[in-house]
This record gives sequence, C-alpha cells and structure tokens, in this order.
Amino acid sequence: MNTVITINQLTRCFNGTKAVDQLSLEVHAGEIFGFLGHNGAGKTTTVRLLNGVIEATSGSMRVLGLDPQVDGPALRARTGVLTETPSMDERLTAWDNLSIYADLYGVPRADVRQRIEELLTEFDLADRAHERVGGYSKGMKQRLALARALLHKPELIFLDEATSGLDPISAHHVDELIERMARRENRTVFLTTHNLVEAQKLCDRVAVLEHGRLVALGTPAELTRQYVHRLDVEIEVSEGQIPVAQGVLRSLPEMVLGEPARTNGALVVTINRHESIPDVLACLVQNDIRVYRLASQEANLEQVYFTLHEEKEGVQ
Ligand SMILES: Nc1ncnc2c1ncn2[C@@H]1O[C@H](COP(=O)(O)OP(=O)(O)OP(=O)(O)O)[C@@H](O)[C@H]1O
Ligand SMILES: [Mg+2]
Repeated sequence: MNTVITINQLTRCFNGTKAVDQLSLEVHAGEIFGFLGHNGAGKTTTVRLLNGVIEATSGSMRVLGLDPQVDGPALRARTGVLTETPSMDERLTAWDNLSIYADLYGVPRADVRQRIEELLTEFDLADRAHERVGGYSKGMKQRLALARALLHKPELIFLDEATSGLDPISAHHVDELIERMARRENRTVFLTTHNLVEAQKLCDRVAVLEHGRLVALGTPAELTRQYVHRLDVEIEVSEGQIPVAQGVLRSLPEMVLGEPARTNGALVVTINRHESIPDVLACLVQNDIRVYRLASQEANLEQVYFTLHEEKEGVQ
C-alpha cells in the first residue's frame, strides 16, 4: 500500500498551547481520509502544516515523499487545497480568477480554456462565469474555491470543510465528485468535516482529534465496533406474546438494559453489545416466544463521536 502522508510525533504550539500534540498517522494512496474533531481540535492547523504553510514546533512529516517545510512550492504544485476561508479576488470574474490560478499552477496554456470550462460546468457556475465574484452567494464562492483547488488535477487534495455552506444538492454533488476522484482517478482526499453522516458515507478511514491529540483512528466500521457498545434492537413477536416476551427480556439484565418498550406492535430493547443478540434471541425462543423479526440499529460514527466525548468528559 502506497503511503502518501506520513506524520510522526507532529506538534505545533501557539503561544505555548499545543494546537497539534504528538500526532502520528499515515494516509494511503487513493483513500478518502476523514479528519474529525471539535472546534479548535487542531484540524486546520494540521492541514496547514501538511502544506508547508506553517512550521512544526517538533516532529516530522512527509507528504508525497516531500518535506512540506523544505519543499513547499514543489509540494503545492501537486496538491490541491480548499482552505477554511478561501479568498478570491472579488473584483474579478470567476473565469478570470481561475485563469490567474491556472497560470500560477502551471496548467499548460493550451489546456486552460477547456479546463476552466469543465470545472465551471462541474460546479454549476458556467452561466455566471463572467460575473464578478463579489456578487456571488456564499455557496457559489465555495464552489468556485473548490474548482480552483482542482485546476491542476492534483494527486492529493485537502478539503477543509468542503461542503460547509452548500445547499443539500450541491453538497451531494461535491460528495459524488470526491468519491469519483478517489475511486476512479485514484487521487487521495484528506478532508475535515463536522458532518458525521457525510464522513461515514464517504471516508475509508477517519481520525478523531481532541485538543490536538489523536484519540481514534480506523474505518467507520472498526470504530463503531470498538466504541459503540449499546445498541437498540427491534423485536417483533405475536401480539399475544408481548407481555411474556417483556418478562423474558426483563430477566436478562446483564444483556438487556432498561425496560423493553412497546412500539408499533414490536418491542424495542437496548442491548449491551452486538455479541449478545444471538443469546437474547435464543432465550426468547427457549421460552416458546415466536420471533417474526429482529432488527438491530446500525451503529454510526455519530455514536462513536459522542462515546469518545463522554469518555473524555467522564460521563457514564
Ligand atoms: N495562527 C494562530 N495563532 C494562534 N492560535 C492559533 C492559530 N491558529 C490556530 N490556533 C489555535 O489552535 C487551535 C486549533 O485550531 P484549528 O483552527 O486547527 O482548529 P480546527 O480543528 O480546525 O477547528 P474548527 O472546527 O473550528 O475549524 C485553536 O485553539 C486555535 O485558537
Ligand atoms: Mg478548522
């Protein structure tokens, strides 16, 4: 597996406070890597470090085989970055903004026109291409900034909250574009987001940062197995057997937490862990309960995130 980013014990302080604290991780070629964490966790600082925009206090990193602190310009020719607050020249048109950056990124002159047209169409800005960016809405500016980050077809793309401020359809479109870049074009995407549903859907692996420190790293499935222990299960039994089934479930307090609730002709119970599901089912069957359906709610990254937060805060 090709490693595109290697971070080793990376630390960055601002005024004596560690914004990034002993961070170590690797990102592989072609993966969509999600970087999650609360406001001020150190996500943007990490993105800036990886692009050589700011220097590390200690530790080391390699990005596309280069040291961002030494080879910043060479690196930035191969990476695309959507910063958290992208700036455009608001007096110029979208087309002119892209054309200036195409020059800066060294897009071959002969390809510039076609590339800009492609991107403006991709981001649904073609019919407003010759208007000044100052008159654009927030989401239109964000889409233009995304187009700019992709002008030179970078092999590694950093997206710092790419879909923030986008309407649901545009956000969905950007998610599809991210998937296409990674899955079909084998480009690597490093993204930060507060949208855990989006992260769950898109990311091959995610890292969770708390106060600059890495607190979890893995695929969404690995993290849900590791951190989400309780799960809600819906059990459908025949109407007449509901009271008996409730009694059986109540007699399993080590596996069934709380009171079995009745909803829409089924019972909903909270089970302590995934592995208990067959045991609970076996107990019901042994007690002559006829089970018609058993459906467990799939754990998600949002639950992982809240569990990590609760562990940190010492909440039970
Ligand atoms: N240039 C700077 N000067 C001083 N402090 C900074 C600077 N840049 C970042 N910090 C501090 O570093 C910490 C991490 O900030 P960072 O912007 O990396 O967080 P983040 O995870 O991107 O948060 P958000 O989700 O709000 O974007 C914060 O406490 C922030 O105040
Ligand atoms: Mg940020």
